[in-house]
Amino acid sequence: MLAHLLRLAGIETIVLEARTRDYCETRIRAGLMEQGSVDLMEEVGATERLHREALVHGGIYLRFNGRSHRIDIHGTTGRSMYIYGQQEIVKDLIALQLAAGGDIRFECSDVSIDGLDSDRPTLRYVDAAGDETRVTCDFVAGCDGFHGMSRPAIPESVLQTYDRQYPFAWLGILSESPPLDPELVYAHHPDGFALFTMRSNTMSRLYLQVAVDEDIANWSDDRIWSELHHRLEGEETPPLIEGPVLQKSILPMRSFMTVPMRFRRLFLAGDSAHIVPPTGAKGMNLALADVAVLARAFETFYATGSEHKLDAYSATALRRAWGAARFSWWMTSLTHVFNDRLAFDNMAQLSELHYITSSRAGAETLAEQYVGLPIER
Ligand code: DHB
Repeated sequence: MLAHLLRLAGIETIVLEARTRDYCETRIRAGLMEQGSVDLMEEVGATERLHREALVHGGIYLRFNGRSHRIDIHGTTGRSMYIYGQQEIVKDLIALQLAAGGDIRFECSDVSIDGLDSDRPTLRYVDAAGDETRVTCDFVAGCDGFHGMSRPAIPESVLQTYDRQYPFAWLGILSESPPLDPELVYAHHPDGFALFTMRSNTMSRLYLQVAVDEDIANWSDDRIWSELHHRLEGEETPPLIEGPVLQKSILPMRSFMTVPMRFRRLFLAGDSAHIVPPTGAKGMNLALADVAVLARAFETFYATGSEHKLDAYSATALRRAWGAARFSWWMTSLTHVFNDRLAFDNMAQLSELHYITSSRAGAETLAEQYVGLPIER
């Protein structure tokens, strides 16, 4: 997305990607886009397939005490959410960038940065053919994920980090089966959280709260389905339809924030700077918002020579990132079972779920953040 926004502003980029194109286009990741993320896809002209295939959602269900309550997201905010897999976004953006003559280099390994102190940093890497290669540039955008080399390239003495681990994980499956409901169901259940979401009208994505150190080998398909029926179904809900499990994995839950998001000519964006627990689906949307802010800062610099937006990038991006981090932490705290909590805290959690689903102000608080906070550019 950053490469697209910059290309449209007449700024040249080179994208170094560790994986193969096929890997990027097929790995199952996030699937829920905020309206603002769709607006960005619109801005770069990448919505042709999205508008054809994405499922538009105007609400979600919160389920607790055996009943489902709808939060009317569109009714309260005038905005919608879109179901469209991250790998589909990646597919569309790669195709468009290559068609426009953009430079994406796949299978780059051993990437390192030299000369961050200078005006012309250099990236060294080993290319797909195994040759040592260098790229010298004006700026480096560290969009290389939580385990990438960008964040560690910044001296520890200038970074502050905020880390929060959660005492549980998610087990996620992709199932070839029709949706339980046309909208997402976030379920609080005494035996643990469950989430029903989807990728299409024939493909469901389901998650279960499991122990933090859970071994996937303990979860046969039968056990997973039995637990999903148990946590998601009730008298007034239709039965969950089972289908072949195409993929299953365990996802860790963590909040991690890096401050600042810039060191000299290196700018961090997305997971390289921060990760959020998956509840509320903020990770990918936050990464897209980061690069929207960053693209505008580069654009201003190249158009006017002014560095004021580059200097403001970290603070601007962090204001929104903390909003998403807080929301993801809050959605997680609201809907999961914490075994170490006091009985009082569990009652307060149920009371908060009741408040969010019965008060207009409560529902608006959730809806406004769920649909996505504004992007300050
Ligand atoms: C999805 C994942 C989430 O964490 C969430 O809150 C909503 C949707 C998904 O994979 O579709």
